Amino acid sequence: MTSRVIPVAPFVLTVFGATGDLSRRKLIPALFHRDLAGQLPDEATIVGVSRRHMSDEEFRHFASQALADHVPASELEGSEVERFLGRLHYVTVNAEGEEGWSELASAIAGQGDRIRVYYLATAPHLFGPICEKLGKYGLSEQGARVVIEKPIGKDLASALALNEQVGRYFPEDRVYRIDHYLGKETVQNLMALRFANALFEPLWNNAHIDHVQLTVAESLGVEERAGYYDTAGAMRDMVQNHLLQLLCLVAMEPPSSLDADAVRDEKLKVLRALKPINEHNVASVTVRGQYRAGASSGGAVPGYLEELGSTRSQTETFVAVKAEVENWRWAGVPFYLRTGKRLASRVSEIVVGFRNVPHSVFGESVGAIEPNRLVIRLQPDEGVKLWLMIKDPGPGGIRLSHVPLDMSFAKAFKVRNPDAYERLLLDVVRGNQTLFMRRDEVEAAWKWVDPILSAWRNVKEPPRPYTAGTWGPSAAIALIERDGRTWLEDGA
Ligand code: BG6
Repeated sequence: MTSRVIPVAPFVLTVFGATGDLSRRKLIPALFHRDLAGQLPDEATIVGVSRRHMSDEEFRHFASQALADHVPASELEGSEVERFLGRLHYVTVNAEGEEGWSELASAIAGQGDRIRVYYLATAPHLFGPICEKLGKYGLSEQGARVVIEKPIGKDLASALALNEQVGRYFPEDRVYRIDHYLGKETVQNLMALRFANALFEPLWNNAHIDHVQLTVAESLGVEERAGYYDTAGAMRDMVQNHLLQLLCLVAMEPPSSLDADAVRDEKLKVLRALKPINEHNVASVTVRGQYRAGASSGGAVPGYLEELGSTRSQTETFVAVKAEVENWRWAGVPFYLRTGKRLASRVSEIVVGFRNVPHSVFGESVGAIEPNRLVIRLQPDEGVKLWLMIKDPGPGGIRLSHVPLDMSFAKAFKVRNPDAYERLLLDVVRGNQTLFMRRDEVEAAWKWVDPILSAWRNVKEPPRPYTAGTWGPSAAIALIERDGRTWLEDGA
């Protein structure tokens, strides 16, 4: 089976921060892959912008290096590489000064009435100044769209200010806030599973679901990002955005369509229904941890403080939270969230644990009846498993086993799994905001997160240490086991 390629309209995509890490690792390879697939029209142009002085040729050289580092060599053999590099241009611009803006304005004006997209792959403090300049130089007109990346603020107040600054020059229907988790194949599959099958939705509530687990575990540490990471921590870096977005997709009511506002209205209702966590309950429903030296992928790895080069930081590299959605559908169903760096393996999955059968008609000798589970695996090995009880094959009496109906997407579809940025970048060109966070969603997420952060600050307990290469502090295991449940790992 091959994936469908729908070409997009001609566009000019201007990437601010074009020589940075995000551009090198994600944006350039993603655009190349879409070009390779035949999805970019001839009139698609990419303008790299940063403070560095570079010619078009030097930027193309930078991009070809990015491709060599992040795209398999077998995909770089054809003439498509030259075609892609030919789309690239470069303008040196000082985001906060005047240098380069007139040149950028004429470069973009030279592209006629193509769709204009500005991707701000820069430090967030530049989002406001760049939007202001885009306004001043007449570049925010003509339906131009702006794309911004997290972190969107570090708390509610700063997020409001940032959204306000951007909103002065770009109306909300032209602001694209990326949460790359929403672009992941399996995350969208969650919507397909829920809303394209009659099977699950009638059971999707507190009468039939016992609890939900959301795990986003990483085996890598913070490494060279320690400087940024130390100002954020796992709550701001992962929970406020990626994990809450996953929670929303699991918990939201069926939207009336996939129209951007229909979906985002439903997600917003979930965020607003989250039970507040504050100094009264923070100790019983959250755990924060920080990794110490240990082993990962067979080798010794340093602890967070060593990577940071400071002994004082109390930034959490692990968070576990027992969240609750206070509405009729979900009352009494805990959503256990956990994420961390330097955990035992890199795995992101959603486990929907159903309630057990109300009564067993089998005698005790058949083995225990385990509850059904739906496991949606985001990465690696994207797929879906539905755990069922079946009879062990063979003659004689009945013995029961818990086994998965197991669908690996790689095996079932035999197509390359596109990176989230490939889909999201072209969604911006298509003008489809469904997979982007609306302003009020980001703000509602901060409203829930802020009191947790402030309760942690007030409690003044340091994060609990955990050894790199494990599943986090033992308190996180206790958090779920107190409720008579267990974290499930690796598709279990
Ligand atoms: C980013 C975080 O948003 O997501 C990183 O800032 C994290 O700290 C990354 O490593 C994880 O993304 P993925 O797609 O590798 O799971």
